[in-house]
Amino acid sequence: MNKREVYLDNSATTKVREEVLKEMLPYFTDVYGNASSVHTYGQKSKAALTKARETFAKLINAESPEEIIFTSCGTESDNIAIVGSLLANEGNHVITSKIEHHAILFTCQNLEKKGYKADFISVDKTGRVNIEELKSKITDDTVIVSIMHANNEIGVIEPIEEISKVLKEINKTRKNKILLHTDAVQTAGKLKLDVQKLGVDLLSVSGHKFYGPKGIGALYIRKGTKIEPLFHGGHHEFGMKPGTENVAEIVGMTKALELANEEMEKESKKIYELRNKLMNGIVEKIPEVVINTDIKYAVPSVLSVSFNYIEGESLLLMLDMAGIAASAGSACATGSSEPSHVLSAIGASPLAAQGTLRFSLGRYNTEEDIDYVLDVLPNLVEKVRRMSPVWNNKTED
Ligand SMILES: Cc1ncc(COP(=O)(O)O)c(C=O)c1O
Repeated sequence: MNKREVYLDNSATTKVREEVLKEMLPYFTDVYGNASSVHTYGQKSKAALTKARETFAKLINAESPEEIIFTSCGTESDNIAIVGSLLANEGNHVITSKIEHHAILFTCQNLEKKGYKADFISVDKTGRVNIEELKSKITDDTVIVSIMHANNEIGVIEPIEEISKVLKEINKTRKNKILLHTDAVQTAGKLKLDVQKLGVDLLSVSGHKFYGPKGIGALYIRKGTKIEPLFHGGHHEFGMKPGTENVAEIVGMTKALELANEEMEKESKKIYELRNKLMNGIVEKIPEVVINTDIKYAVPSVLSVSFNYIEGESLLLMLDMAGIAASAGSACATGSSEPSHVLSAIGASPLAAQGTLRFSLGRYNTEEDIDYVLDVLPNLVEKVRRMSPVWNNKTED
């Protein structure tokens, strides 16, 4: 089969859609006014900002546009949600899960160093959080529970609605209501986000995961939720995120989410089928693999596979030479020699965790892409295994 370029790292980031780029361009050139300026240049930008906020609010079923603040990225949204709520409310305790993105994990670990309390809830082998354990960790000092909507490494979707119901029941008898935050960075554009249905007070999104630009995010803050800003300056974004608004990217991210929502049903079906074709092909053609993504509970695009007796990074480099882009664990964890915290939490053996790749599919992938991967991958796995003393000793047994 001829060499081709196959991008299977859409959970790390995505290509900006043509329609999104087109929508953004005028705000770099013609409509460049500062949205806070009173003159016509400024007011044109302000109008675009207002429209984007209204559209964005509708797309996630927020009650009003004032509940949306635009941020610089998903990491910033997560930090404002967690640190901001601890600063603004009585209590000093946050509950999260063991499999969160580092934007949450490291934020909570840093809070612990500053004297706050944090609990990290375990997950089952599919990656779903243990709700009974979560309940047992709640104290009078609990301010916020933060559980991701879907995990970036294995794609598992967490039972946010169920957690919300549990918290609502507990909140009935409490003076200080426990807030619920979800990091929806890996679900925006893949699942319809409805903040009412999910029952969350705070929700984080990042533009570059759904064919929007990088360096732009959003945080939904339910009306009445007390949050302290982490930055101080102008009155932008209702004082929550001071700094001249990035109108072009706000417009671009909103357009990207609008398009993703419109096309979701069709795209999800296609991506789901391609992902399953990849999974079935891998299982059929390659011995000693473990599928870490339980497709019953996962977003359609992600497939985490452990190739036993392999160094994931070596396979990744070989795939890259063959034109295939995937990722070893999550992009953010690459470079660390520690086994992935997500794979450890679902009980993967260190041997399996070491040889784990994440394939994340997207709207531009085709059947031919998957055929190509299934043609190339088995040979590469065999090649890497032949160089591995552990594999050779195993086969000599
Ligand atoms: C679940 C999750 N949360 C947060 C982030 C951080 O988003 P950003 O890159 O926009 O800061 C990522 C990025 O991979 C993610 O997957």
